[in-house]
Amino acid sequence: MTRVSEIMQTMEYGPSVEDSTAVRDWLSRRGRFGHFINGSFTKPGQTFETRDPSTGEVLAHVSQGTEADVKAAVRAARRAQKGWAALSGTERARHLYALARHVQKRERFLSVLETLDNGKPIREARDIDVPLVARHFYHHAGWAELRDTRFPGLAPLGVCGQIIPWNFPLLMLAWKIAPALAAGNTVVLKPAEYTPLTALAFAEICQEVGLPKGVVNIVTGDGATGAALVKADVDKIAFTGSTEVGRGIAQALAGTGRRLTLELGGKSPFVVMEDADLDAAIEGVVDSIWFNQGQVCCAGSRILVAEAVAERFETLLRARMARLRVGAPLDKSTDIGAIVDPVQKDRILSICRAATEAGAELVGGQSQDGCFIAPGYLKNIAPANPGAEQEIFGPIATFSTFRTADEAVELANNTRYGLAASIWSESATVATDLAARIKAGVVWINSANIFDAAAPFGGYRESGYGREGGAAGMLEYLAEPPVRPARDAATTVPVATPERATTAGQGIDRTAKLYIGGAQKRPDGGAMYAVPGGLAPLGGRKDIRNAVEAATKAGKWAAMGGHGRAQVLYFLAENLAARADEFAGRTSPSEVEAAIARIFHYAAWADKFDGTNVQAKAGHLVNVLPEPYGVIGMTCPNAQPLTGFLSLVLPAIAMGNAVVAIPSQTDPLPVADLYQVFDTSDLPAGVVNIVTGARSELAPVLAAHDEVAAFWHAGPPQERAAIDRAATGNLKPVFSIQNRDWTGPQAQGEDFLRHATRCKTIWMPYGALPAGSGSAAY
Ligand code: NAI
Repeated sequence: MTRVSEIMQTMEYGPSVEDSTAVRDWLSRRGRFGHFINGSFTKPGQTFETRDPSTGEVLAHVSQGTEADVKAAVRAARRAQKGWAALSGTERARHLYALARHVQKRERFLSVLETLDNGKPIREARDIDVPLVARHFYHHAGWAELRDTRFPGLAPLGVCGQIIPWNFPLLMLAWKIAPALAAGNTVVLKPAEYTPLTALAFAEICQEVGLPKGVVNIVTGDGATGAALVKADVDKIAFTGSTEVGRGIAQALAGTGRRLTLELGGKSPFVVMEDADLDAAIEGVVDSIWFNQGQVCCAGSRILVAEAVAERFETLLRARMARLRVGAPLDKSTDIGAIVDPVQKDRILSICRAATEAGAELVGGQSQDGCFIAPGYLKNIAPANPGAEQEIFGPIATFSTFRTADEAVELANNTRYGLAASIWSESATVATDLAARIKAGVVWINSANIFDAAAPFGGYRESGYGREGGAAGMLEYLAEPPVRPARDAATTVPVATPERATTAGQGIDRTAKLYIGGAQKRPDGGAMYAVPGGLAPLGGRKDIRNAVEAATKAGKWAAMGGHGRAQVLYFLAENLAARADEFAGRTSPSEVEAAIARIFHYAAWADKFDGTNVQAKAGHLVNVLPEPYGVIGMTCPNAQPLTGFLSLVLPAIAMGNAVVAIPSQTDPLPVADLYQVFDTSDLPAGVVNIVTGARSELAPVLAAHDEVAAFWHAGPPQERAAIDRAATGNLKPVFSIQNRDWTGPQAQGEDFLRHATRCKTIWMPYGALPAGSGSAAY
């Protein structure tokens, strides 16, 4: 037996294992689980084992959901939806509040179950995951209550299919279910195959609190079950998981018009500036990279350190790493638990092997018996090294240095992902400068991995689209009221195939040109096609490429600020008004009048679509800022060519984007007449680029372009599938706008501005909390 005097010498922690008796009793009582459909558990079907990754022990047998199971769950959700949506906000709030209370009552049980099934340290499950689950249901009970006040006129989507990963099983369930229910939707949720147990325990809680049958349905199974849910009759899919699977889901949904949010992978930078509090930053690394064994989508897995402090930082890092305890997840003094499954462990080790074979040096990171890997990092790693490019999703970071802030930003942005960033500097100027320049959906200043139900979370670029948390998250589960299409809206306009009627130089009046980079250009090849009132240029792939290139150079437009952009737009309205009669000849006096009004409308908004400061955790200032995407591609309506075009282009540019627009194919000349108005209004070159021609050829090329960050489509629905498929390449969101009266009030407003921006959530210490002590993990 260890003597007290020996303990005083070694200062070793003794074992302090959380009691798992209650959970084990529950597991042995339940043993084999069916699905949770329409308020009760089905008889188990074909089952698979779920294991404790730290020991390999089988915990339970869980059913593999079939297509029929998924259909039954969707049917139950569909039946329940109308009744659920018909409840008052207060009634729905009470149900959500009851779920929160019961999660709190079962906090210990749920934490132990999560730790057993997932392998994460009990301290994390108990102190972070489960309290945040309760917080999510409380917060969204509030949104249920306030839905109609805060989001007037918006309606729930219907039935939502939700697919979640294994790294935060119960927390991801809460992130998905709470907002969906608050908005008035019903759900079918599929947990990850490695970690289905807390979702099944949550199903019991739904029974306990008397949640109406069919509002929450849970179907367990693997990717095949997930794929069946994607194919099922649901109105939305919300997915968190790998970028590859997310891309496949986007492809599967192409052209269906169903809503999709994707929260995917990351390779987030952890930037330590020369003036950082290094001790605090080291604790930040622990919270950011070694939290949950590094199996965190927003882990700051690329450590970037200012050269001047790199040596000192690395010494501190090694010392801290050596003190982290790897071991039994149920032990309260364990820092690093088990990797979720041997498959994931092999994946992590194989990336590390590839990284070292390509010349990187692995410090620490040894594989241990069972599903354990010691914390570590890869140094001397070239940008093209597989360890630098791939998401390792384990307790291994990369370590590199930089000299200047510009270089730090360049390295930070040198990735296809854009989920999060953690920035360490004692200078507010330096930290906020970096926060503005790093392309990521969440930025933590002098902190890392802090989450809260009120703070929107989600990615830029290939980390996905859509937000979870706060008002932005609620909007992902609400829809605009259906709009009655105008009689002459685009759907009723036949899409003419442009005739390659004539080519350049045959003596025909060809005043119409493309508008690229602020200059009028002939289309590549010089072909024109017949349209009412003359000929229009038939743009091609090369014109689209040139237009996108011009748009990417218009970056200063965003930097002008809202007031500067408003002035240009007001001037544009003035100049169009001066030529109103001339434009009326091409369209109609009422359309020109509506076009001028629309420009005034967005000039007004340019400096008023604000960010918010949300009430997340005490001791933090959490700003949610709308940022422009950069370049937005768009196909504009065929009907009402002038107001249709302006209704799309104006909100996008008012928010600081540059656009490449394909105007009405059938009647593009009213838009071609605008070029001169743009030129006389001081609109900087490249902010608006216009390529006329065959939409079915041009739109997929534009939607596939890597420099285009978002796509808007207003036009015949049959164009949509090709655009959606093309957009999945770099995972750009597609905003599809129903046909409407483009001169009317339903073709303008905040919804357009929201789609013209994506929010960046910036956390910084504020008030009494010392920098660095605000991280989630400890
Ligand atoms: P995954 O993306 O395959 O699994 C996530 C969820 O999607 C699970 O519920 C799974 O059953 C489901 N799924 C799998 N294939 C599907 C399909 N074709 N259609 C619909 N649903 C499907 O992730 P996996 O294989 O478990 O992990 C692989 C890698 O993905 C990790 O090493 C990590 O790099 C990344 N990952 C990222 C996560 C994040 O939070 N962003 C979470 C989990 C994994």
